[in-house]
Amino acid sequence: MPVDIKNVLICDAVDKACVDLLQSNGIQVDTKLKLPVNELCAAVKNYNAVIVRSDTKITAEVLKAGTVEGGKLKAVGRAGAGVDNIDVAAATSHGVVVLNTPGGNSISACELTCLLIGTLARPIVPAARSMLEGRWDRKLYSGTELYGKTLAIVGLGRIGREVALRMKVWGMRIIGYDPITTEEEARAAGIEKMDLESIWPLADYITVHTPLIPQTRNLISSQTLAKCKVGVKVVNVARGGIIDEKAILDALNEGKCGGAAFDVYTEEPPVSEVTKKLIAHPKVVATPHLGASTAEAQVRVAVEVAEQFIALTGKSQKYT
Ligand code: NAD
Ligand code: MLT
Repeated sequence: MPVDIKNVLICDAVDKACVDLLQSNGIQVDTKLKLPVNELCAAVKNYNAVIVRSDTKITAEVLKAGTVEGGKLKAVGRAGAGVDNIDVAAATSHGVVVLNTPGGNSISACELTCLLIGTLARPIVPAARSMLEGRWDRKLYSGTELYGKTLAIVGLGRIGREVALRMKVWGMRIIGYDPITTEEEARAAGIEKMDLESIWPLADYITVHTPLIPQTRNLISSQTLAKCKVGVKVVNVARGGIIDEKAILDALNEGKCGGAAFDVYTEEPPVSEVTKKLIAHPKVVATPHLGASTAEAQVRVAVEVAEQFIALTGKSQKYT
C-alpha cells in the first residue's frame, strides 16, 4: 500500500542530491540540523518522514511525539548502513517504516579500513607529524611489510569481503570468520573461512566488520587478545563496542597489541577517559567516524534514501 509522503525533515547533513530528488517528485523538504531533543520532538509531528545519518537519535520518545495526537510521521530513513540510532522496535509499534541504504557506502568504509591497515604497518601518521614539527627522524619511523602477513576478517558481509579482495592484492593471507557466509562465498573473495578459535593465534592483523549485536559486543576482549600473537594489530571501522577499548588500551601498554586503528567508538563523540587515552596512545590511529565520508558514498546514500521514499509513495523515479 502506498504511503503518502508530502514532506520530509532532514536532521543530519546529507548530500544535496537527496533534496533535489525529493523536491523534483513534489515532496517538500526542510533541513534542521542538530535539533535539541525537545525541538526535534516538537518538529517531527509535522512531517511524514525524517532522514538521519548517525548523529540524530530517533528514540522511542521522538517516535511517540511524531505519531500521537495528530502526528504525521510515517517513515524514518537512515542515509547509511546501520540503524543503531533508530529505535526500530518503537518505530514498528507506532507503525513507522524504517529504511536504510546498506550498500551505498560499503566501498568507502572498505577503503578506509585498508588505508588504516596501511597506517598500522608503516608509521605514516607520527612521521608526518614529526615533519610538521620540523624534525627529520628517518630512523624512528621504520615499519613492516604487509606482504606475507595474515589478515583476519571477522564479519564477511559486504565490507569484509571487499577488504579481503583488496588486501589479498598486497600479498596478505586472508582468513576469516562469519556464522552465515559459506566457505564457497568466502573463497570467492580470497578468504580461508575458519572458526574463531583457529583465527586468533594466526592473525597479524584483525579487522572487524560485523554489526554491533549482543553476540559481537566485546568480540575482541582481553580473553581473545590472550590467544593472539604478541604484536597483533586491530582495526575497527564497524561499530564501537565490538572491540573492548579498555582491553586494547591495556594490551597496547603491555606490548601484546602492536597497534590499533579506530573509526568508531563506544560513545560518539568519545567521552570516557579510557576512550580518550586510547585515542591519544602513540600506537593508535583514530578517525572521527569517517568510513562513509566520501563524495561518492554520500551521493549514493542520499539518492538511495530519496528513491526509497519516492518508491513508498508508489512512484519509481531514478536519479540521473
Ligand atoms: P553486512 O550485513 O553486509 O555484513 C555483516 C556480516 O557480519 C554478515 O555477514 C554477518 O553474518 C556477520 N556477522 C553477524 N554476527 C557475527 C558474529 N557473531 N561473528 C562474525 N560475523 C558476524 O554489513 P556491512 O555492510 O559489511 O557492514 C559491516 C559493519 O560496518 C556494520 O556494523 C556497519 O554498521 C558498519 N559500517 C560502518 C561505517 C563507518 O562509517 N565506519 C560505514 C558503513 C558500515
Ligand atoms: C553507516 O552506518 O552507514 C555508517 O556508520 C556511516 C554513517 O552513517 O555516516
